[in-house]
Amino acid sequence: MKIVIGADHGGFELKEFLKNERQDIDWLDIGTFSEESCDYPLIADKLVDVINSGQADFGVLICGTGIGISIAANRHKGIRAAILYNKDVASLTREHNDANVAVFGARTQSKENVLAYLDVFLTTPFSNGERHCRRIAELG
Ligand code: RB5
Repeated sequence: MKIVIGADHGGFELKEFLKNERQDIDWLDIGTFSEESCDYPLIADKLVDVINSGQADFGVLICGTGIGISIAANRHKGIRAAILYNKDVASLTREHNDANVAVFGARTQSKENVLAYLDVFLTTPFSNGERHCRRIAELG
C-alpha cells in the first residue's frame, strides 16, 4: 500500500515519527523536510496532486491542529480528508465517507493515539452502501 504523507512545520516531527513507527508502509513523503516555517495550503496542494493522479492509495496530512491542512485539502475535487480523533471516527469515515486522506493535529493529539487511529483507517474498507455511494456522488 502506497501512502503519501505531508506536513507543515507544526506536523514535521509527527510525520517523521509515523514513518519510523510504520516502516512496513511504502511512504511517499512530499515534505516539509524541516521545522522551518512553511504554508500548509501548499503542502495540501502537493499531496492532493499525488492522490488525484493515482500515485498513492491514501494520504496522511498533519499540521498543528489538523484543521488548516484539512480545509485546504477538502477544497479539491476527489479529496475526502477527515481529521481522526477516535477509533470510531477512523472506521466510520472509511465505511461511510470513503475518506482518502487521514488528517492529524500534531499539537492536539498524542502520538500513540495517532498511530492507533491510522491503523484503523488503513484497515477499514468502504462499505459500498447505496446511500453512501449516493452521498459521495452528491459531493461532486
Ligand atoms: C502553524 O503554526 C499552524 O497554524 C498550522 O500548523 C495549523 O495548525 C493550521 O491550521
